[in-house]
Amino acid sequence: MDRTSYKIDLSGLNILVTGASKGIGKSIAENLIRQGASVAVHYNSDKQGADEVLAKTDGKSFSIQANLEHESEVIELFEQTEERLGVIDVIILNAGIFEDQPIDMPNAEWMKLWRKVIEVNLNSTGLLTKLGLNHFVKNGSGRFVFIGSRAVFRGETQEYLAYAASKGGMTSLARSIARSFGKEGVKSFIVAPGFTRTQMAEAFIQKYGEQRVLDEIGLNELTRPEDIAPLVAMLSSGLMDHASGATIDINAASHIR
Ligand SMILES: NC(=O)c1ccc[n+]([C@@H]2O[C@H](COP(=O)([O-])OP(=O)(O)OC[C@H]3O[C@@H](n4cnc5c(N)ncnc54)[C@H](OP(=O)(O)O)[C@@H]3O)[C@@H](O)[C@H]2O)c1
Repeated sequence: MDRTSYKIDLSGLNILVTGASKGIGKSIAENLIRQGASVAVHYNSDKQGADEVLAKTDGKSFSIQANLEHESEVIELFEQTEERLGVIDVIILNAGIFEDQPIDMPNAEWMKLWRKVIEVNLNSTGLLTKLGLNHFVKNGSGRFVFIGSRAVFRGETQEYLAYAASKGGMTSLARSIARSFGKEGVKSFIVAPGFTRTQMAEAFIQKYGEQRVLDEIGLNELTRPEDIAPLVAMLSSGLMDHASGATIDINAASHIR
């Protein structure tokens, strides 16, 4: 199926996508640009990946680096994006890490990984959300799209407890924003992917094998980043504003609730 020939008009919209250098975020950013948006393409270590996204632009979009483990870099990311885009219409909180953290690890090592996952997946999301809310409330409108996870609703395998906890926190945050700031023009959506074929997922495939993942899903093939991007464009457009607060699953019928 051709996922590039449809049109959702996003011209005039300014959008920040975190973790847009590879995987789901990259596909989201490429699609938003294809639909006419100006995009701040955030990356951490993979500048080349971010530059590949920009290769398909008309020059309005740009890449921007920040390590979301550090509070000061999160603030700088937001302030620089605001300076370059002027009005920010949509923030897509996608950057994340999936760290293998078995419980037979020494406590200190386990806690170090726990803190890192919470820092990148939840704390930076909290701070970017706070900064985004200040901006959106001042402008009287704005949309957040949070890339959550099936892990929140189904539970995760035992090595990824911090990951599941971080996505649970993100989901509650997103829902609270929808209820608390809707009258000020702010909408908040959660997209909850199941297993999606990206670099993040490769470690799991290597450990458990592809067949295990295929056995879990209801469809014949694994979800790809291109299967997530169209929904995010639709949520960004405003066409789905009355779904604010909703969590939309894209998990190939692996967990139906
Ligand atoms: N893949 C799945 O099966 C799956 C399932 C459910 C939910 N999700 C969620 O979907 C989102 C994207 O996942 P993905 O599979 O596309 O991951 P991915 O391919 O590993 O890409 C992760 C992105 O996050 C960025 N990132 C990682 N650590 C960062 C840090 N410390 N500071 C700033 N940016 C950082 C990376 O930037 P650099 O590469 O530039 O360093 C990269 O752009 C994540 O939130 C993930 O939890 C994924």
